[in-house]
Amino acid sequence: VTAANPPVRRLADWPAADLRDLAAEHGTPLYVLDHDRIRENGARLRQAFSDAEISYAVKANAIGSVLETIADTGLGAECASAGEVVRALDAGFDRVRYTAVNPPGRDLDRVVGLAADHDIAITVGASDTLDRLAERGWAGELFVRVNPGVGAGHHEKVRTGTDPKFGVPGERVAAVVSKATERGFDVRGLHAHAGSGILDTDDLDAHRALVARVVELVDEVAGTDVALDAVNVGGGFGVPYRETESPLDLATLAAAIHEALGDRDPALGIEPGRYLVADAGVLVTRVNTVKPTPETTVVGVDAGMTDLLRPALYDAHHAIRSLVSDADERETVSTTVVGPVCESADALARDRELPAPARDDLLAVGNAGAYGYEMASTYNSRPRPAVIALDDGESRVSARRETIDDLTRLEADR
Ligand code: LLP
Repeated sequence: VTAANPPVRRLADWPAADLRDLAAEHGTPLYVLDHDRIRENGARLRQAFSDAEISYAVKANAIGSVLETIADTGLGAECASAGEVVRALDAGFDRVRYTAVNPPGRDLDRVVGLAADHDIAITVGASDTLDRLAERGWAGELFVRVNPGVGAGHHEKVRTGTDPKFGVPGERVAAVVSKATERGFDVRGLHAHAGSGILDTDDLDAHRALVARVVELVDEVAGTDVALDAVNVGGGFGVPYRETESPLDLATLAAAIHEALGDRDPALGIEPGRYLVADAGVLVTRVNTVKPTPETTVVGVDAGMTDLLRPALYDAHHAIRSLVSDADERETVSTTVVGPVCESADALARDRELPAPARDDLLAVGNAGAYGYEMASTYNSRPRPAVIALDDGESRVSARRETIDDLTRLEADR
């Protein structure tokens, strides 16, 4: 970590004038992704986890230009679907980890087909997934995902570690590993993931507990004469969304994980998604309507839950900043920033102090690089926004703005 590569980039650090220029050129709502920052985040991860295999969790942001930037840094890719595997390989990743959560047969067909020519390991979280892979003639590099019984993260909806949907229950792990070994799979090790957006010290304890549980299970498996040489502890590395939150200390986290791995010291794998891309992205939006009400000033903007779902889905907090040049001279008002979608959930922020917004002002929403564009939808027949890459002083279009014609493109003849 150096002054040139700080552990956090706050919304206030983005140059307002550049964002205003991009909005003028490309319209709003607009995602802006700074690829230099993605590389910085990758560099800090590689420094702290120099001995680990790092795979980017593609689900955080699967835009081709983002994938290419991350693939170029030498990281692998963790993929949750055949679609992600295809996109990761297209972008140049030469090492893919496919995490098969309740995998559709069509996905297994596709991934097994690709595995013939590419370095793809598969992580299974259910015994019958082994049968389904064997039926397709695949018996390659395999991880068994365990349900660690340890969950953590920013919201209950992302605490996978305690959700029975994910991973083999602890007491069944040794049996599933034996079955995989007998069937001739190349069983590398165990995998576990506690949840997403793990930031504070208590949750670091959860990370320790997760690793300790996995090591316990590795020991149990060793009792059945199968030696596992690798452990993947998933992703979940949080980033500060609020000014009051501090960034993770990656060195402390790495030390805690290594300590919990103990003497057995298996090869370590991690799968961060959010950490690489969250603070590399902002969502720029324009004010349509300002409506004083007895409760709050309702600020209607052109981005909504279809562009950034996290506030509606998880009550997630994203920083919001006015990009107007005279922001300092305006009085501060309490606002609720809402989108154009016909749902009460469609608010980007509530009770937020902002320099009094006016029609046509631009606002920026922070930490929008992870699970932003990726979770965008076309609900209310709203075309998805454009995405711009900033790269070494240049800007380019990573994804063009969707059009209303695009929305009907898949419909059959009427
Ligand atoms: N590995 C596995 C097996 C995962 O399930 C996930 C995330 C990751 C890695 C990456 O987690 P990260 O490092 O990004 O926290 N849409 C939610 C996040 C859902 C994450 C699901 N799994 C959000 O916007 O907060």
